[in-house]
Amino acid sequence: MSAVYEMPGNRNLDEIGYYDYAATMGIPYFHWGGLSASDRIAELLAINNNTRVLVVGCGTGYSACRIAKNTGCHLIGVDISAEMIKGAQKRATEWGLEDHVEFREGNAYKLDFHDAEFDVLMTEFVSVFLERPRVFREFVRVLRPDGKLGVNELFLADEIPAEVRPKIERALEGFEQAVGLPINIPTMSEWKTYFAEAGLGSISQEIVDYKYRIRETKNTMGGTWRLLRIIGRVTWDMASNGDFRRRMTPIGRLSGVLVRNRETRGYAGAVICVGTKPA
Ligand SMILES: C[S@@+](CC[C@H](N)C(=O)[O-])C[C@H]1O[C@@H](n2cnc3c(N)ncnc32)[C@H](O)[C@@H]1O
Repeated sequence: MSAVYEMPGNRNLDEIGYYDYAATMGIPYFHWGGLSASDRIAELLAINNNTRVLVVGCGTGYSACRIAKNTGCHLIGVDISAEMIKGAQKRATEWGLEDHVEFREGNAYKLDFHDAEFDVLMTEFVSVFLERPRVFREFVRVLRPDGKLGVNELFLADEIPAEVRPKIERALEGFEQAVGLPINIPTMSEWKTYFAEAGLGSISQEIVDYKYRIRETKNTMGGTWRLLRIIGRVTWDMASNGDFRRRMTPIGRLSGVLVRNRETRGYAGAVICVGTKPA
């Protein structure tokens, strides 16, 4: 599939948040595990052409459109960022999905839907930014009885050595400032507790296989040439604006700490957690 965005023109780098910047650049998705994780969550949620799906924090809609295209489900995606929704709507049109996919601005804490409207609700790298007890109550409200909540979200290990914890915490603080959203990463057992406290049953958890796939990045971003242009543009923006560079640098630091750094990696990952609303 082609990338959705035109290369951005002049933007105000002093003000733009990380995710909106990334959206204007055409970054297709931000969650751990890439497309295979989206395919897996769709499978675990048993999404098919009769399923009414709500994707909360859909971003630029890549995985939402992929799930809708692969399964034929009826899908609505909401995101608090107008920039993200603009990109997602454009993508749905480009992929010819307008008859069963819709994207609109919306806030996870106050979903503009009736009780029990959806069979499935999912988030990918969104619920870590939200107050779980409050937002899960809202998620469960819009699910029908027997409907499923599924999340693909980061978790931290239960036991983190005392010398490693501050390094992870520092990386998370920097990340939080860069994206402008408070991040709070639960452990696997805490995720389970959030699900149980929201009244969900039959809770399952599966660790997401993290493998970076350069071919996937290239394909989802519109090919090698376009990827190189984006890398060039980001390099230029970072070099030409010191404040922007300082704000954005912690983004790379967090993935270094979680994935590459030998001392700190292995204490975090992503989990797909699924639970069912009682019938
Ligand atoms: C890390 S991005 C993930 C986007 C997408 N799920 C993906 O996997 O690429 C987090 C997204 O959550 C959205 N978001 C943050 N707070 C939100 C809220 N209260 N309600 C709806 N969306 C929210 C952000 O605008 C952003 O698009």
